[in-house]
Amino acid sequence: MATWNELFLDDKYIEILPQPEVYKFIKMLEGVFPGETLSIWDFCCGAGRHTLLVSQMGHNAFGSDISENGIANTRQLIEEKGLTANLKVADMTENPFPGQVFHGAFSWNALHHNTTENIEKAVANIYDSLCDGGMFMASLISTKGGGYGRGKKIEEDTFVSEEGYEAGVPHHYFDYAGIKELFGRWEIVGLVEHVSTYMEAEENFHDFNPFPYTKWNIIARK
Ligand SMILES: C[S@@+](CC[C@H](N)C(=O)[O-])C[C@H]1O[C@@H](n2cnc3c(N)ncnc32)[C@H](O)[C@@H]1O
Repeated sequence: MATWNELFLDDKYIEILPQPEVYKFIKMLEGVFPGETLSIWDFCCGAGRHTLLVSQMGHNAFGSDISENGIANTRQLIEEKGLTANLKVADMTENPFPGQVFHGAFSWNALHHNTTENIEKAVANIYDSLCDGGMFMASLISTKGGGYGRGKKIEEDTFVSEEGYEAGVPHHYFDYAGIKELFGRWEIVGLVEHVSTYMEAEENFHDFNPFPYTKWNIIARK
């Protein structure tokens, strides 16, 4: 059974370049809290590309992930550049930075790797850790995505992959109602469903697919 911890031992699965959306979200936070050094939490930071970005942009970077190898990689990236970040190995249902108040948090391509109950706990953790007016950005997979229904169903809209590089990893797919429920007590700043329709793809195309998958993107305010 593959886990993200194992995948991070292979360079092939390590994303290097930051998402432009994350850069723009940090710029957005800078506009909301002008002149402040921001505390920003990269929630499920993986191998660290966005934690590094936060630190490079001059803010207090925090990163957490369940993968020890991901956090080790993040630490190495940060140290190689002579920067600093607060890094913790932690499950998404835990708050590894108790007492820390964040201006912003984001979770890119990660929050859906759990059951509904645990995703709700994770989002509640983030809410409790933000200052008033603090913002959270996430990407989450959609029920309209091509992977929907693949693997073993463990609850409504949650499937555990049985093959491929994410074998053993749960995926919860969100529809509009599910997203609205998850963010019920937040103010929605922007909620977008990007639908990518793959008309043709060679057999192994998805091993190295450079194009986006069908996803929800959300920015929400406390
Ligand atoms: C597709 S990677 C994305 C990593 C990173 N956000 C990025 O954009 O490069 C998914 C990440 O979710 C993490 N993850 C999966 N389940 C988790 C859990 N229960 N608690 C914390 N992190 C988890 C994995 O270890 C992995 O780093």
